[in-house]
Amino acid sequence: MEFLLIGGGAREHAMALALKKNKDVELYSVMGNRNPGILRLSEKVLHVKETELERIREFAVSNKIDIAVVGPEAPLGAGISNLLDEVGIPSVGPKKELALIETDKEFCRNVMAEYSIPANLTYACFSDFEKACAYVDSYNGELVVKPVGLTGGKGVKVQGEHLKNREDVKVYIKEILERGIGGGRVVLEEKAPGEEFTVQAFVDGSNIIPMPAVQDHKRAYEGDTGYNTGGMGSYSMADGLLPFLTKEDYNFAVDVIKKTVMALKKKTGESYRGILYGQFMKGSEIKLIEFNCRFGDPETMNVLTLLESDFSELCRHIVEGGLKGAVFSELATVCKYVVPEGYGLNSYPPCEIEVDEEAIADEGANLYYAVVNEKKGKLFTTTSRAAAVVGVADSLEEAEEIAEKAISHIKGEHIYHRHDIGTRELIEKKLRKMETFGR
Ligand code: GLY
Repeated sequence: MEFLLIGGGAREHAMALALKKNKDVELYSVMGNRNPGILRLSEKVLHVKETELERIREFAVSNKIDIAVVGPEAPLGAGISNLLDEVGIPSVGPKKELALIETDKEFCRNVMAEYSIPANLTYACFSDFEKACAYVDSYNGELVVKPVGLTGGKGVKVQGEHLKNREDVKVYIKEILERGIGGGRVVLEEKAPGEEFTVQAFVDGSNIIPMPAVQDHKRAYEGDTGYNTGGMGSYSMADGLLPFLTKEDYNFAVDVIKKTVMALKKKTGESYRGILYGQFMKGSEIKLIEFNCRFGDPETMNVLTLLESDFSELCRHIVEGGLKGAVFSELATVCKYVVPEGYGLNSYPPCEIEVDEEAIADEGANLYYAVVNEKKGKLFTTTSRAAAVVGVADSLEEAEEIAEKAISHIKGEHIYHRHDIGTRELIEKKLRKMETFGR
């Protein structure tokens, strides 16, 4: 079977490895960079931007692709699944009308409101600055300010964190509207305090298969401090839950995902086929922070490392229907990312790094290359994340130890990682925070 994989990060390296576990899979890849992990696994690679849809379609047709698997949101939002569908190639990844659940935050909130899906936040959307300010002045509480469209994960600002007060909120609204950030329309949401968690599901249009819960760490520095990044690392537990997440909480989140898949079908007439990612906040209640129309990054590295079922078969069922189940190992995982200094704000320019693959394997860890470039046998960072390691073990402590030892075999100047992800100290801090909500 010929698979097309779109994307060149660690998420896609994990997807490529999972696909290639089936010996009958031939992999064709599209990426803007030169990820050595994906290069090694691919028959052929097209090096173009992941939104060059026509070039991707030509490449898919000429290589007789059976199924396309799309990593990032940008090509989905631009309509790659629609375009491939026209030439008879099905995609693991929704059509653009459904990808709106991620690419248009107003659409997402409206669908939740229209179909009475629980966990929605109080929200309001504006293109007019004066009307937005009137809402801010009348709002009783703190707000989260988001551009409605995609911003590469950098558009969200929170009152009381990135924005000190109402005046700062208004300044940022003005910037979004005047500079056209994320389409130049703003959504103001109720601030939901608590601990974030991720639940992802395989979706075949009607059946959904949920994956283990994962907690990502967006902040750049230890102790969950500093500015937001795309994610510095993540962990999951052997029971598929999290230290602060009960089975009931998890089932609630899965139900929100299920209801959203059904609502999308009613709203658009189209079936959602791909991965639906729910990012939730648990405080005194559980709220939906956002949906993504794709696998999470870094969460993919946790769940696909645990996946025992044949990923290529799951992909086939996603596009053909008939998804029945998936088996995940009952083990804990800790994923840690190596990133350039300043990542998320102003990354240090490309530098050479050295990755001792053998030593990482000897520590018992998995290695996933991210947005790096291999040139003449040397490896260079970009402005994005460089590589991830994943420790897998019976307990979180052991998994963290494996990841921490493994990551020491990635060396270079002007790179760093967060030592605290998956540690007992950080987990206890999260549990103490949860106690303040009486949970
Ligand atoms: N982990 C956050 C994301 O994938 O968007």
